[in-house]
Amino acid sequence: NPTDRLPRRRVVLAEPRGFCAGVHRAIAMTERALELHGPPVYVRKQIVHNHFIVGMLERKGARFVDEIAEVPRGSVCVLSAHGVSPAVRAEAAAADLHVIDATCPLVAKVHQQAKRATRDGRLLLLIGHDDHEETEGTRGEAPQRTVVVETVEDVDRLDLAPDTPVAYLTQTTLSMDDTADVVARIRARFTDVEEPSSETICYASQNRQTGIKSLARQCELILVVGSENSSNSQRMVDVAGKAGVRGHLVPDVGHLRAEWLRGVRTVGVSSGASAPEVLVEEVLVRLAEHGFDQVDVDTTAVETVTFSLPGGRSVEPGRRL
Ligand code: F3S
Repeated sequence: NPTDRLPRRRVVLAEPRGFCAGVHRAIAMTERALELHGPPVYVRKQIVHNHFIVGMLERKGARFVDEIAEVPRGSVCVLSAHGVSPAVRAEAAAADLHVIDATCPLVAKVHQQAKRATRDGRLLLLIGHDDHEETEGTRGEAPQRTVVVETVEDVDRLDLAPDTPVAYLTQTTLSMDDTADVVARIRARFTDVEEPSSETICYASQNRQTGIKSLARQCELILVVGSENSSNSQRMVDVAGKAGVRGHLVPDVGHLRAEWLRGVRTVGVSSGASAPEVLVEEVLVRLAEHGFDQVDVDTTAVETVTFSLPGGRSVEPGRRL
């Protein structure tokens, strides 16, 4: 039988993948709020960008809203992991809400840097996606002194004198390589540039992108489990493409298309920082049905970052939804 001579179909599974410390913490804070206060607990925006997680919390009594104005006066309201502008906080205070702030500590750090840079009179060039909630929140620290740029061309188009004092920061979930190009252009265009005090693309985004590059050296196709509105997951797909390998975002197993697998012997699988492991497991089961029954783990980093809950309680270690 000639097919016996074909190499086996196999999966290379990236490690680390899936939940980051900020997502763990945001979900745990929402669950804790539900336990302590009972439903309904309001959540402004998707707590993390994943439909499965939003559905799970909804079933436990969370109510997701887009704006503070939709929350009844005096209610409990969780703010999502992506952070909010001071204007949103003020609105919540005016509505007498009991606010539980699930902003990722690494996003909060970017806010601090944004405040500092603009207080010093600089113009902040915020590298990010204009319509993303995190960018909206960070820009809100100093809306008059912040310009969002996404690409090298955006930097070229800025109508500013070369000696304008600027600072730059990035959204936490960008592609490291694309951002490096934009930063290089900022440094080339301006003579007085303040650098961030520390790297603002977060450890989880960096590690997941490094993992994709490693998969790209071994696989003909890369599947990234994550929702369409998840920035870090989308960037992982971009990184695969840049490395010359076809990548697809898989919000859940229902989106996995059999034709993608045609002619493929080795498929790489990873997941974004807001994607629960159960969705990855479902994808692996489906792949096995297509003959990808060997799974090799490719470890490119070991993550030990955890964020405690307010009040010092730790998030249950090793919890993988
Ligand atoms: Fe925070 Fe990065 Fe996760 S900013 S929420 S650790 S993807």
